[in-house]
Amino acid sequence: VTHVRVGMVGAGQLARMTYEAAGPLAIPMRLLAAREDDSAAKIATDVLIGPPDAESALRRLAEGVDVVTFDHELVDLGILERLEADGHTLRPSARTLGVATDKRAQRDVLGGAGVAIAPSADVDSAEDVRAVASEHGWPLVVKAVRGGYDGRGVWTVGSEDDAVAVMEDAAQAGLRLFAEPLLDIERELAVIVASGPSGQRVVYPPVETIQVEGICHEVLAPARVSRELADEAVRLGELIARTVGSVGILAIELFVVDGRLLLNELAARPHNSGHLTIEAAVTSQFENHLRGVLDMTLGDPSLIAPVAAMANIIGTPDTGDPHHRLADALAVRGAHIHLYDKEPRPGRKIGHVTVVGGGLGDVRERARSAAQILAGGPMGGPR
Ligand SMILES: Nc1ncnc2c1ncn2[C@@H]1O[C@H](COP(=O)(O)OP(=O)(O)OP(=O)(O)O)[C@@H](O)[C@H]1O
Ligand SMILES: [Mg+2]
Repeated sequence: VTHVRVGMVGAGQLARMTYEAAGPLAIPMRLLAAREDDSAAKIATDVLIGPPDAESALRRLAEGVDVVTFDHELVDLGILERLEADGHTLRPSARTLGVATDKRAQRDVLGGAGVAIAPSADVDSAEDVRAVASEHGWPLVVKAVRGGYDGRGVWTVGSEDDAVAVMEDAAQAGLRLFAEPLLDIERELAVIVASGPSGQRVVYPPVETIQVEGICHEVLAPARVSRELADEAVRLGELIARTVGSVGILAIELFVVDGRLLLNELAARPHNSGHLTIEAAVTSQFENHLRGVLDMTLGDPSLIAPVAAMANIIGTPDTGDPHHRLADALAVRGAHIHLYDKEPRPGRKIGHVTVVGGGLGDVRERARSAAQILAGGPMGGPR
């Protein structure tokens, strides 16, 4: 049998869970890990070590596999374009990643395609931020065009003094920035779309994400919105996946503002908002990512139960080794625990818990309580 080999750039928890999905299908996977102790590198048997933005490392990966895919956004688009020009298959493509890794390009390309999105302007100085504020008022949100995650690269700016401080720091880091109004967000949703290379597509039921200080703490499925808004989110997901030429998983983060959907951002990879699909959907986002990039029939994205909740396990100064509390967390009925085997630094996602069931209040409570036990301290945020 000739197996088609998948190479993944990056070896974090997304690669780890993709690798776990590859197992039952006996799909061979090779990883490019920045470090030997990266989450997925600890369980994979075929791992290259090298920086994800170095051409030599990416070429070594691409030459040994049939399809290259990605677990993070820290890629150099110029290198990816050269790999494609040399005949390597990248899924998603360099073109898709060009949009998905660049919040400015997302606004230009998708705003141009008719997707509703908050007004924004490039800013290069505190003076520029003040000019945006004179149009939209304070507070504003200043964001890095590339490279942000878990709220790093997102600053709320309430005044001119704030703007001076943020712009000084950002200038030192050499970041390209833009500013947009601080929105009065009713809810945050995410739509996960799985696509094949010839435009086959399935869309997961929209989920609701709960952020605390820019970090996703919980995900609820299905999202607590009207049927009409959920249908609209699905249509938006299909439109956006088609517009950016997505292959594999595309995650689309949306805001509900004044009862209407606005695009927040995209990620062209499996996404935190889709972790609950491992236990709560007929086919997980990780398996559908592999099926999409390998041009195999996509699996059913439907939920297998009325509701599901996921809680992230986020490191605190007291977390220590979560394994010491694993037995206690497993005592929570129905808790599906995923530990990523990462150093539990404060604010870092080191695992998650999913609970599937019949009532949202109940599954949410159980997911939160198991996650809290493993984090070694209370999790913040709304109930
Ligand atoms: N204009 C805005 N108004 C109000 N809140 C915002 C705005 N933009 C972002 N946020 C909040 O900050 C969070 C993080 O923003 P964003 O998704 O752009 O950052 P990120 O660091 O790239 O996220 P991720 O962790 O998903 O990679 C959002 O989920 C939302 O809660
Ligand atoms: Mg985000």
